[in-house]
Amino acid sequence: MKDASVGRPIDRVDGPLKVSGRAQYAAEIPVANITHALIVTSAVARGRLLGVDTSRAEQVPGVLRVITAENAPRLPGAKTKSDANDRLLQVLQEDEIHYADQPIALIVADTLESAQEAASLVHARYASTAPRVEFERNTGDEYEPAKAGPVGPATSKRGDFDAAAKNAAVRIDQIYTTPVQNHNPMEPHGLTVIWQGEDHVTLYDTSQGIFGVKKKVSALFGIPPENVRVISRYVGGGFGCKGSPWSHVGLAALAARVVKRPVKLALTRQQMFSLVGHRPPTIQHLVLAADRSGKLLGMQHESWSETSRFDEFVEPAAVQTRMLYSCPNVTTSHRLVRLDVPTPTFMRAPGESTGTFALESSMDELAAALELDPIELRLRNYAERDEGEDKPWSSKSLRECYRQGAAKFGWAKRRGEPRSLRDGRYLVGYGMASATYPARQSGASAVARLRRDGSVLVQAGSQDIGTGTYTIMAQIAADALGLPVERVQFELGDTTLPETPVSGGSQTASSTGSAVKLAALALRDKLIALAIADPQSPLHGTRGELLKSSAGELTLGDGARKDSFSALIERSGQPELSAQAWTKEKEQRKNFSLHSFGAQFVEVRVDEDLGEVRIARALGVFAAGKILNAKTARSQFLGGMVWGIGFALEEQTVRDARSGRAITRDLSDYHVPVHADVPALEVISVAEDDPHVNELGAKGIGEIGIRGITAAIANAVFNATGKRVRDLPITLDKLI
Ligand code: MOS
Repeated sequence: MKDASVGRPIDRVDGPLKVSGRAQYAAEIPVANITHALIVTSAVARGRLLGVDTSRAEQVPGVLRVITAENAPRLPGAKTKSDANDRLLQVLQEDEIHYADQPIALIVADTLESAQEAASLVHARYASTAPRVEFERNTGDEYEPAKAGPVGPATSKRGDFDAAAKNAAVRIDQIYTTPVQNHNPMEPHGLTVIWQGEDHVTLYDTSQGIFGVKKKVSALFGIPPENVRVISRYVGGGFGCKGSPWSHVGLAALAARVVKRPVKLALTRQQMFSLVGHRPPTIQHLVLAADRSGKLLGMQHESWSETSRFDEFVEPAAVQTRMLYSCPNVTTSHRLVRLDVPTPTFMRAPGESTGTFALESSMDELAAALELDPIELRLRNYAERDEGEDKPWSSKSLRECYRQGAAKFGWAKRRGEPRSLRDGRYLVGYGMASATYPARQSGASAVARLRRDGSVLVQAGSQDIGTGTYTIMAQIAADALGLPVERVQFELGDTTLPETPVSGGSQTASSTGSAVKLAALALRDKLIALAIADPQSPLHGTRGELLKSSAGELTLGDGARKDSFSALIERSGQPELSAQAWTKEKEQRKNFSLHSFGAQFVEVRVDEDLGEVRIARALGVFAAGKILNAKTARSQFLGGMVWGIGFALEEQTVRDARSGRAITRDLSDYHVPVHADVPALEVISVAEDDPHVNELGAKGIGEIGIRGITAAIANAVFNATGKRVRDLPITLDKLI
């Protein structure tokens, strides 16, 4: 189709609004009579509040109220015991302290400055005991959760690992660890809350899942869901921490109810380190057993991670080991240890990013032990079907990713022997790793509306967390309707629009995109029916299947007879013509295992004297089905790869074992990659046609970019230095 829009690298439609500062974020919505709320947090990690002295804080001019557990209204839906799939919030309903920097008071004031001054004057007394914020494996206090989060059972077993491992010629048996990481989107969490009377509320929130926020607020306050409206037009980065509502959402709504005025609440960067979840640390024990040719005979992957005392989150780190390679004997398990820490949560490619570090490091160790090229080892264990699920792949182009990546990267120049490539004072190393991520889809709905001017407005609740949702949805609708993309406007971020799933798990393009496509097709079919039935239409009485829709017109055959969208609606006399669609997960998906795949290639330079690691270049090759917009897709892949650099070399939240508090709690102490850490990165998208995955053939690309790259870097460091670092991040002290 000559006016096809899908796939084209068009600019983000919301780009000009964002770079010019006109896009309004949740905590900067101008509202008359606004007040400012600020959370005060606990100085201890474990114990009980004996009392909170608010007398001095209350005297600060401009302070309207200081709310504590003593005077906070009881919330009917506030729970203090966890149940499945509903995160427990700390909204000033109890005296227990479960983790350091838990909310213990809330200041509401006319200005932020008054609130800040008052916050500094709140004095709390505690009965506290020493917290435990670190764990080892096999200390007897771990337990096996019911499930590995939302992604399947906590354990798996196929074949007989022990028997296979006993007879194997080669075994790699190692422990890998990953640290606590905290999400640091550019826009910290924040919201503006406006109550309309006692039982209707509007929240402007920064969220990956507005319908989840609606449900939670409705439950907390005991008001009907239809009385809660959540609006989230722009989100300055999500990464998982904005996937579920946290305590501050409930607290802001509570504050607005108490002072009977609108409230604005923004977390400080420091508060992001305790109030919105984190990636839990993992300890992973991996055993690979192979024959002399490198054929995997057995794999065992055990993972331990932390959760809070009061709630449960499992980092599903062993899950990809069930499917990434062909191997007859595989066991995996996940165990949790309860600590005095906040509840961990999803962070970009949760589980799989920590898990591929261990698995793909281990594969590199096996290749080194066998003196085999790492790509060759992977090809010898290529999984032609998903042996964990025992299903065929819906599509898989990993072989092609290895091939194109190796050629483009110049993999043949790699020397197998560590420390054999030098450039002046630098040791040079090459590393690679595989990447994979599930192609998810959830039910979604959307509506398409043709307006009198012939343009189309498409609406779905949804969210654009910076990934390009506004843009790709307009592209999808434009092609389905046969309209130039400029004539399609897409609106999202409002719970009064059709319901869609959370923008997590790389599923928005797949889920909401499918609904948008079906709504647009339904609208087109309505137009065709209208034309055929309309005696004034040149297409009157023609057959629908002979009509083509393109450039805002319906045409028959060579185009001698045609009618335009705008003429059709004009003659209909209607103000607009609309069609809504609801999608479910495609039935045929059940017969397949659905994943995107990729291969990551990295060259590092290591200063031999200082141990400093620099990424010289990196190449990510990804096959993720249909690419809906080449530019926004590339940005997603690159963003994941940049995070991988931070994951491998920089990011870690350090806790003070005595207080339980995060010490690295701002961007000067918590290191993320800056421009100087990131070389020119390259991305190749491997063309892939997947008829099974969804209406669009798109697998989702938000998370695969961060997978495998961490191991590729560690493997390159080994190739450069001969040192295998199994404990992230790879800081220079581990190399000297
Ligand atoms: Mo992503 S961690 O699935 O928001």
